Amino acid sequence: MKIAVADLDFELQIPYAQLEKRTKELAKQISEDYEGRSPIIAGILTGSFLFVADLVKNMEIPVEVTFTKLASYFGGTSSSRKIRDDFDLTIDIKGRHLILVEDIVDTGNTLHYLVDKLRVREPASITVCTLLFKPKAIEVSVEELKYVGFEIENEFVVGYGLDYREQGRSLMGIYRRIG
Ligand code: IMP
Repeated sequence: MKIAVADLDFELQIPYAQLEKRTKELAKQISEDYEGRSPIIAGILTGSFLFVADLVKNMEIPVEVTFTKLASYFGGTSSSRKIRDDFDLTIDIKGRHLILVEDIVDTGNTLHYLVDKLRVREPASITVCTLLFKPKAIEVSVEELKYVGFEIENEFVVGYGLDYREQGRSLMGIYRRIG
């Protein structure tokens, strides 16, 4: 089924049932890997807000949840490669285990910028969990990327937090651009 978001057409690629199932698997894996610890889950806004919520609901360990906000797309369908740093983490991460949660890793520039910025605050560790990963789009590899929900082609997607011109974030599934 075709849907319109702003001036573009999209079709369903990953239904919510699959997102839900995979998110539960990731939450279980992270809970096992961090057993006996209480990591900080830092969502990167805006796109990660639904994924963070579903992820932490399924965690079996105590976690702290916080957010930072960065932007790099500015209304288009490809990365501008310029990063706007809208707001910073408010929790002191020194000596803490930090898990950054992204909606999608595309060129890798956003994560590279963020990991570099946070490393100097001396957290005990940094890993990254992303719902979606476009391996063919990567320009800067990020070794902290440990948890990946789905690998997808180098296509523009919306839904489940991801937007096109600030629309489409509330769609309960991932939709890929067609046409
Ligand atoms: P990167 O810095 O190129 O890895 O881009 C990361 C950010 O770009 C993500 O957090 C998204 O906000 C945005 N982005 C990348 N690909 C898409 C997409 O297909 N749809 C919507 N936003 C995207």
